[in-house]
Amino acid sequence: MNTVCTLKCKHCIALTPYHNTKIYFSTADIKKDIDAVFRLYEYVGHFDFEGGETLLQPELSELITHALKYRSQFKQLNILTNATILPPLELFEVCKSGNVFFVIGDYGEKLSVKLNELQALLEKHGINYRCDVYHGDKQYYNGWIDFGDFKYKNLSAEQLKDKACRCYQSGNVARTMNGKLYKCTIQMAHIKHIPLKSDEYIDLHDASKTTEEQIKKWQKIRSGPVAACNYCNGFLTDGPRVPAAEQFAPGELTDEMKFCP
Ligand SMILES: C[S@@+](CC[C@H](N)C(=O)[O-])C[C@H]1O[C@@H](n2cnc3c(N)ncnc32)[C@H](O)[C@@H]1O
Repeated sequence: MNTVCTLKCKHCIALTPYHNTKIYFSTADIKKDIDAVFRLYEYVGHFDFEGGETLLQPELSELITHALKYRSQFKQLNILTNATILPPLELFEVCKSGNVFFVIGDYGEKLSVKLNELQALLEKHGINYRCDVYHGDKQYYNGWIDFGDFKYKNLSAEQLKDKACRCYQSGNVARTMNGKLYKCTIQMAHIKHIPLKSDEYIDLHDASKTTEEQIKKWQKIRSGPVAACNYCNGFLTDGPRVPAAEQFAPGELTDEMKFCP
């Protein structure tokens, strides 16, 4: 949805700070992507809006309203936020009417500075939410996943297959950005030194393919490894962790360190 955030997390799963270009994809384009996703998927457990920082996205209410047209095709529509900013009041109305759920990342009082206000507003408007605590001793999910340094690992085909089987992002989620459907956020981030072949993602708006052909291609992609698996630790639920939401200090993140477009 965007590559823009209010935080600069060193270990962000979406690699947001490492993007050279800060982009908000347009409302019209995101709506088209939503339409395309629900042509491929009959039903999903949850459909998430996330960034970057979701609440920075312009016309978010319009996007949520659009997604709610597909409410028979998902169990829950989630908005993920870091509680650093508050949404416009109109968003609460839309969310209330559509039973939208908020997933709040609580990164501690120095970062998630609007947490209390956001919770109070959600409660006032009768909107359900959960708060994932990512600070202190008892962190949600035991803390953030360490995806590694993205150096080439030279894994064999067998090792890659095994890694894809163990990676939570592989097969369990689908990620959409800029008209494409990816297996995982690492692939989606287009890290410059990691190859991304056209048979490893779905071009959602490829008019030369039927929906059936797209679904067939996606099923094949979902079940196996992609080139990025040879550069990534994987989302291993029993794997190493890193400090959640650890921030770059002002001036610490240089342009040379940004390895995404
Ligand atoms: C990339 S954030 C984007 C949405 C919003 N800015 C936020 O912080 O919630 C989406 C989700 O990914 C989680 N996340 C980010 N980096 C992660 C990592 N390295 N391992 C596991 N979860 C991560 C966040 O806690 C959040 O729940």
